[in-house]
Amino acid sequence: MNDNVNMTGKTVLITGATNGIGKEAARGLAKLGARVLIVGRNAQKCAETVAELQRSTGNQAIEALTADLSAMAEVRRLADEVKARYPRLEVLINNAGAYFSKRLTSADGYEMTFALNHLSYFYLTTLLLDLLKASAPARIVNVSSEAHQFARLNLVNPHKPPVYSGFRIYGESKLANIVFTYELARRLEGTGVTANAMHPGFVRTGFGRNNAGLASKLFGFMQRFALTPEQGADTIIYLASSPEVEGVSGKYFVKRKAKPSSRASYDQQTWEGLWTLSERLIAEKQPV
Ligand SMILES: NC(=O)c1ccc[n+]([C@@H]2O[C@H](COP(=O)([O-])OP(=O)(O)OC[C@H]3O[C@@H](n4cnc5c(N)ncnc54)[C@H](OP(=O)(O)O)[C@@H]3O)[C@@H](O)[C@H]2O)c1
Repeated sequence: MNDNVNMTGKTVLITGATNGIGKEAARGLAKLGARVLIVGRNAQKCAETVAELQRSTGNQAIEALTADLSAMAEVRRLADEVKARYPRLEVLINNAGAYFSKRLTSADGYEMTFALNHLSYFYLTTLLLDLLKASAPARIVNVSSEAHQFARLNLVNPHKPPVYSGFRIYGESKLANIVFTYELARRLEGTGVTANAMHPGFVRTGFGRNNAGLASKLFGFMQRFALTPEQGADTIIYLASSPEVEGVSGKYFVKRKAKPSSRASYDQQTWEGLWTLSERLIAEKQPV
């Protein structure tokens, strides 16, 4: 579908590329000739994924970086590694995310969904912003979800919800992805770096399978009716590579089309509030 775009000479970093949608986005972009840096949390799975992607695409410029993105120290180490090893970065795709049916706490003491699905996007992006700006024109793609539609952000303590509901917290984290994207796009105006959010559709992946018992079985059953990971990756590849969206920023995409996101996502006080809160939470754990 994007076969006419040539990404040779461009470096793309994609998180959560050892499985599902991220892996297929990595494959698609490697086919277009990009140097693809995949990020995963398991070194062996990363190495196997690189070998498989190299074999299937014929592109040898695929490399792996390992980090548990729910831990802010690991996000910082990852960003330092990227900056030390690669002089340019034209595309950053924040994709690694998960649903947790039971409350888990991250290494920094934050609720796991919020830490992995939002704080890692925020921290990795802000740490790599100078490199992206120096590589402009550059693009940031944040993988969100229609699950944001009914969510509201609690900016008092989203990292420590008093009552835990996996679906509610997941929806909030996906709303945070969009709110973050809109504020990021606003701050990036005039820099040559664009930022867009997207929904991949309901896709048959490993999503939800990290949970025990019924939750995992339920996802397995529902996913029988879902899109393939390749179909789920299509809009990511489009946003990362297509000349049609050159310069387009601050939008939410579904099936390659810009669509309105929820009303709550357009509240500019929330944009600013989430940014300030995220900076504070990270600074508390990762003093400069
Ligand atoms: N599937 C859907 O229907 C759907 C719908 C809307 C939005 N999304 C979004 O799409 C994105 C990708 O999900 P998916 O469906 O492709 O799920 P997936 O198959 O479970 O893939 C998730 C990826 O994230 C990685 N990951 C998970 N926790 C991590 C951590 N702590 N540190 C580093 N990497 C980590 C996984 O690594 P491992 O390989 O080690 O597990 C895997 O590579 C998520 O942001 C999700 O919210 C999915």
